[in-house]
Amino acid sequence: MASLPLLPNSAPFRPEEITALNGVITKSTPEQRAWLSGFLAGFQAAAGGTPAAAAPQAPTKKVPLLILFATESGNAESLAAQTRKAAQKLGFAAKVSDVADISLADAAKAENLLIIVSTWGEGDPPQRATDFYKGLLAEDAPRFEKTRFSVLALGDRAYVNFCQTGHEIDDRLAALGATRFAPLVECDVDFATPATAWIKSTLDTLQKETADDEGAVIHVDFARGPAAEPADEDAEPLYTRNTPFAAEITELVNLNGTGSSAETWHTELSIEGSGLIHAPGDALGIVPVNDPALVDEILNITGLTGDALVREALSEAQDITTLTRPQVEAYAKLTDSAELRALAADADALKNWLPGRQVIDLLEAAPTKLDAATLTSLLRPLPGRLYSIASSAKAAEDEVHLLISAVRYETHGRRRSGVASVDIAERRKKGGSLKVYLKPNPHFRLPADPDRAVIMIGPGTGVAPFRAFCQEREATGAGGKNWLFFGNRHFTHDFLYQLEWQDWKKSGLLTRIDTAFSRDQREKIYVQHRIWEQRKDLYSWIEDGAAIYVCGDANAMAKDVNHALIRVIADQAGIDETAAAAKLDIIRRDGRYLRDVY
Ligand SMILES: Cc1cc2nc3c(=O)[nH]c(=O)nc-3n(C[C@H](O)[C@H](O)[C@H](O)COP(=O)(O)OP(=O)(O)OC[C@H]3O[C@@H](n4cnc5c(N)ncnc54)[C@H](O)[C@@H]3O)c2cc1C
Ligand SMILES: Cc1cc2nc3c(=O)[nH]c(=O)nc-3n(C[C@H](O)[C@H](O)[C@H](O)COP(=O)(O)O)c2cc1C
Repeated sequence: MASLPLLPNSAPFRPEEITALNGVITKSTPEQRAWLSGFLAGFQAAAGGTPAAAAPQAPTKKVPLLILFATESGNAESLAAQTRKAAQKLGFAAKVSDVADISLADAAKAENLLIIVSTWGEGDPPQRATDFYKGLLAEDAPRFEKTRFSVLALGDRAYVNFCQTGHEIDDRLAALGATRFAPLVECDVDFATPATAWIKSTLDTLQKETADDEGAVIHVDFARGPAAEPADEDAEPLYTRNTPFAAEITELVNLNGTGSSAETWHTELSIEGSGLIHAPGDALGIVPVNDPALVDEILNITGLTGDALVREALSEAQDITTLTRPQVEAYAKLTDSAELRALAADADALKNWLPGRQVIDLLEAAPTKLDAATLTSLLRPLPGRLYSIASSAKAAEDEVHLLISAVRYETHGRRRSGVASVDIAERRKKGGSLKVYLKPNPHFRLPADPDRAVIMIGPGTGVAPFRAFCQEREATGAGGKNWLFFGNRHFTHDFLYQLEWQDWKKSGLLTRIDTAFSRDQREKIYVQHRIWEQRKDLYSWIEDGAAIYVCGDANAMAKDVNHALIRVIADQAGIDETAAAAKLDIIRRDGRYLRDVY
């Protein structure tokens, strides 16, 4: 490589500044230099100055593009990074930000905006996107008159409110005066192909539409901190759902005692030789394998028992349980059943029919012989399942521990089994293996300050990451206090990792532990009740700077705990619940109220 020109000693800077600038320039990448030259040109223009006497290069013309993402489990974030990479290759000055890190006023300044947003809960935005979402829908939201935009909506067709948040944001931006230059694209769980197509087509369109735009530097101020730039955007994950690592199962124990109605499997996996590096708060993805008995039933009913290839696809590649509206509509067209066709044509009837039903119920409703291609095209790809890592690499080294609750229930007269959890509970054995990949969660981390106190609220399997947190704090000798709220059904059968918590209580690592065993007395007691009972001490921990972590059930628990925290703050601070909710919001924005709920 030819050596880079350096600032001469005659440059209009002091000698130490010339040395410092030359140090930065020689270590910079071509992209950093292009950015810097654009920045300096913009700076000069904004300052109203004349161009420097010996400006070495003309600034590169770049069209600004803001890529926002709203994510819970990281899919939208990684697609945003992918979009930025593609945009930069096309010459855009692309910037990525979590919607949590940008004010609406700054977002409204963007001329070109791509938004990638997932839907959670029951049609809710991801937690960290709540402020942005509420602000956008509020009456006093800023106008987006200058903005061209397009939305990529992530979701799962198995949910009634499919891609709802994406649609709401798309509609609202248009109502606020923004120009939708490309239509919203909905993505189901297999989002890679449609998302890549959206990235390509939106950038192509934008390139054409902005061909005559003046190149500019993006003038977006990230009021709430720096934009979330991926540490190394070129780093590809080592393993993924489709390229997993085969981890040996070194231990598999049901932690629930005899007599328990639950089964929660402590699972130890060896990741030796994988190169996987994880931190407390991360999850491990598992590539599930379908129940062979259900695979047989489906092959029987469709007349495909002799087809080894389709059997293999049904075992590991296709989702043979989840049933969605488009699948009913597609299958109805393949059958002679007038009833099924009528059901598929009646949106309300279908909405009532679907809950609790699976693919097998659809096939049984109108048994029909299918060819292999038709059957596999009816089915969605089988998504991986995530499990919070329950161990710290500092303590468990080459092992990863998981805590997996077996999902079993009955609907419409059929016993149903969770695909991954029951596969592990019933068919996996110590010495066997599981295909895994890492799902980092940079938004659920222990405080950077080892002396900061933490309050961990984790009933059921929600306790898993807190075992990793405690192992980590023990291994690093962190001085901060640790308080655990744990809940489950019965003390005698369901106190997961009981001895470990008790040992940590004895050693002093665990400053406090409060438990709620819901079915040990007549009235149900849950963690939110303990939170309320301990309100005085809890509030004083929060006021002293403790970080609050919540993990586990998203539907009931996380909402009840959130309300309990609001009540505690209202009661102790002597304010009403609206003011207390606002205070909790500030704590959340400070990064001291973190949730990992599912
Ligand atoms: C970030 C994250 C971390 C997680 N961590 C953990 C963890 O540490 N431990 C853990 O056990 N799980 C954890 N989960 C949940 C886990 O990923 C799986 O969703 C869970 O194990 C079920 O998967 P499965 O394949 O066994 O069941 P599936 O085959 O996916 O079946 C589950 C589905 O069955 C249906 N269903 C369940 N019960 C009923 C019922 N009573 N009536 C009607 N329908 C019902 C629901 O549609 C449900 O979505 C986590 C999830 C996420 C997103
Ligand atoms: C607990 C839970 C609730 C969800 N709720 C919805 C929903 O209501 N509507 C929807 O379309 N998708 C829903 N999804 C699917 C997610 O939107 C989908 O997995 C998406 O790819 C996640 O993207 P993210 O990782 O960027 O958050 C839900 C997923 C989970 C695990």
